[in-house]
Amino acid sequence: MRIGVLTGGGDCPGLNAVIRAVVRKGIGVYGHEFVGFTDGWRGAMEGDTVGLDIAAVRGLLPRGGTILGSSRTNPYKVDGGVEAIRKSMANLGVDALVAIGGEDTLGVARRLTDDGVLVVGVPKTIDNDLSATDYTFGFDTAVNIATKAIDRLHTTAESHHRVLIVELMGRHAGWIALHAGMAGGANVILIPERPFDIGTVCEYIEDRFKAHYACIVVVAEGATPVEGTMTMRTGELDAFGHVRLGGIGQRLADEIEQRTGREARVTVLGHLQRGGTPTAFDRVLATRFGLYAVDAVHDGDFGTMVALRGTDIVRVPLSAATEELKTVPLERYQEVEVFFGA
Ligand code: F6P
Repeated sequence: MRIGVLTGGGDCPGLNAVIRAVVRKGIGVYGHEFVGFTDGWRGAMEGDTVGLDIAAVRGLLPRGGTILGSSRTNPYKVDGGVEAIRKSMANLGVDALVAIGGEDTLGVARRLTDDGVLVVGVPKTIDNDLSATDYTFGFDTAVNIATKAIDRLHTTAESHHRVLIVELMGRHAGWIALHAGMAGGANVILIPERPFDIGTVCEYIEDRFKAHYACIVVVAEGATPVEGTMTMRTGELDAFGHVRLGGIGQRLADEIEQRTGREARVTVLGHLQRGGTPTAFDRVLATRFGLYAVDAVHDGDFGTMVALRGTDIVRVPLSAATEELKTVPLERYQEVEVFFGA
């Protein structure tokens, strides 16, 4: 069998570990052949490929990013996009695809399955917001990077008696902010699932200063105030219709300074959360996903996605990946609220 591999959407530490595992097991155990499509669905449509043999995946395990490149191209938004994928697969003799991506890439994979293309999916996102799997690889790395940043910000916040605001990724789900904020001992954590009251946020800040400590506020980029008045949106949409967010950290800093008279500064971690080498947890999860994904292809179990359930890797229908966003439940937020303020 000749199998095409692609990575789509925002990149994520661990993508290369998946590619390595797919190719190592696919060639070494099953004797399949592989071809890499570059830049996600764009490469699949345009027939842009790179060779994927054992030599090509040597040394990939700890490497961040993706050797295949990525894009947010949506073939269902391009005229003749699906036909182009079929054609390039036929020209290259590719029988099936392993698509590694988040809800958008896997949403396309599901539709392609319905349209008769043979696809197995591998879930990835630093946001950890795919409901069909307990964890996605990349999340642990992002949380560790953000936690280290918060640890460092504590000391400078104390020196200057400031409010330091850390803006983290998470458009609709606040998992990174929740976990990094809990691990880093943040004094306030704001996530998209729980619209915040700026007055209450300022009370927490004042309480914290009364206890003679400075204050760290962790905010997910998609967090909004109760009235929905403070989010800054550029208005731009990507190919999957997502609004580009950004600026909530600065808006909070301005508002907090004005309301409390305390100096506030913002750190936006941005793409630092996605760059560089994956943690050991993410390397192991990504590797296991890759091994099980190539098993699914070998078994002809298309239209499925590998997922983590407890400590087991299972197969679920691709539709399950995109059915519902996995957001932070109220109980998980109530756990961290205990530590807000002083
Ligand atoms: O979905 C992953 C993610 O990193 C989000 O957390 C973030 O909102 C988005 O991608 C950023 O997208 P881009 O890298 O295209 O700006």
